[in-house]
Amino acid sequence: TDARLTVDPHFAIGPINRRLFGSFVEHLGRCVYDGIYEPGHPSADAEGFRQDVIDLVKELGVSAIRYPGGNFVSGFRWEDSVGPKDERPRRLDLAWHSTETNEVGLHEFSSWLEKVDSELMLAVNLGTRGVLEALDLLEYANLPGGTTLSQRRIDNGRTDAFGVKMWCLGNEMDGPWQLGHRSAEDYGKIASQTAKAMRQLDPDVELVVCGSSSAQMPTFGEWERVVLTQTYDDVDYISCHAYYEEKDGDLDSFLASAVNMDRFIESVVATADHVKAVNGSSKTIDISFDEWNVWYLDRYHAVDKVEGIDNWPIAPRILEDVYSVADAVVFGNLMISLLKHADRVTSASLAQLVNVIAPIMTEPGGPAWKQTTYFPFAITSRLARGRALELKLDAPTYGTKIYGEVPLVDAVATHDPETGEAAVFLVNRSQTEAVTVSVELVGLEAVSVRETHLLADDDVYAKNTLAEPERVSTRPNEQVSLEGGLLTVTLPPVSWSAIGLG
Ligand code: AHR
Repeated sequence: TDARLTVDPHFAIGPINRRLFGSFVEHLGRCVYDGIYEPGHPSADAEGFRQDVIDLVKELGVSAIRYPGGNFVSGFRWEDSVGPKDERPRRLDLAWHSTETNEVGLHEFSSWLEKVDSELMLAVNLGTRGVLEALDLLEYANLPGGTTLSQRRIDNGRTDAFGVKMWCLGNEMDGPWQLGHRSAEDYGKIASQTAKAMRQLDPDVELVVCGSSSAQMPTFGEWERVVLTQTYDDVDYISCHAYYEEKDGDLDSFLASAVNMDRFIESVVATADHVKAVNGSSKTIDISFDEWNVWYLDRYHAVDKVEGIDNWPIAPRILEDVYSVADAVVFGNLMISLLKHADRVTSASLAQLVNVIAPIMTEPGGPAWKQTTYFPFAITSRLARGRALELKLDAPTYGTKIYGEVPLVDAVATHDPETGEAAVFLVNRSQTEAVTVSVELVGLEAVSVRETHLLADDDVYAKNTLAEPERVSTRPNEQVSLEGGLLTVTLPPVSWSAIGLG
């Protein structure tokens, strides 16, 4: 089976914002406690952060990290998480039915971000709190000094302002599960008021208004229209969230999950541009795809969910999905989808980073290891530089129950005009057929193949576990050749590939 595509650096989709390679750390399960932070661990540094995890996060190449939630943020009082540790209150986290000790808060997390070289992206609580508390947090974080709140930050050990640029105006406010869930009208109103007030304090903030929790939400589309109608002039981004899982053994549809992501992004762009037209605005709203991943949500409801008035564990083992090769192929394809929309998706956060639906797993007192999904993220983050390119793809199709007839192959290419380096990322969604792809390199004839990576396995359900942490990794794709501007690559069934050219 054959496919063809043309890569030409003259046809760019848009620049790739480094914020596309963001992630997400929520106070949820063992993401923070026993994940990034474990004071008793042999590799822990003076602040209690695991050095082995820091090393893995750095290698992953994460640009910005959203914090501290997620659903958690809708019940969070930020003041609890600053000041002397032994005075910080223990609180119920209603979202995840846990106890929050507040041992790690804004200062500690910001210090950890310096170690992993990532930018802080904060979410404010618009579920159970409002404009004033958001303003207080912004003043505490970003005002250099001279007021009670900024002085409190200085007294708490941080002289320089945190200077946080990216702020999420609440989290998943369209979801009935959200504490303080609101209608689009009600949320639009409070989001607009909060955004205006935050800008009065700090005009340099970049603000993300909540879009839909998935393209399957009953309010999807209308939510975006109503919320953006009320906030268009006040915000910079609208968020998208999407999680995918294989359901009822339908691997064919699961492998085509990125089709859903493509359509989701294009629908939100269309809706945002509709509001732009109605407003007669010259401003364009971008997408912050600030939660995306494979997540076996059905398993969470069936197995993980903590319940009971007398049962509020600290850092329970919840949402600890173990990812297969097939999951990682879908995951790599989701990254391709983000890159294909680099002109409008200018920020994204892989949800999440450690232990909780994460590319990195840890054992208390024990090792940290890479899940299958670690590889496509790390390689894409490293190789996808410069601009995403428009591709002309001609590929065979296959039928899926959920998405209809879709291409067997998906791909994107990137090119960095500064270094002359390019990269091509491809997936083969077929369960049975290898696909040979001929890539015509127009205007890139002089390049050579610098590196190739292939993620595939005879067992598409192979995983990395504590017992066998290196069962799955990438290997070079031996079936790649480049001759006279024609790159030929063979993609085995259910596989993800990356090719670095330069
Ligand atoms: O990432 C896990 C959860 O998924 C987040 O807390 C929430 O925003 C979403 O529903």
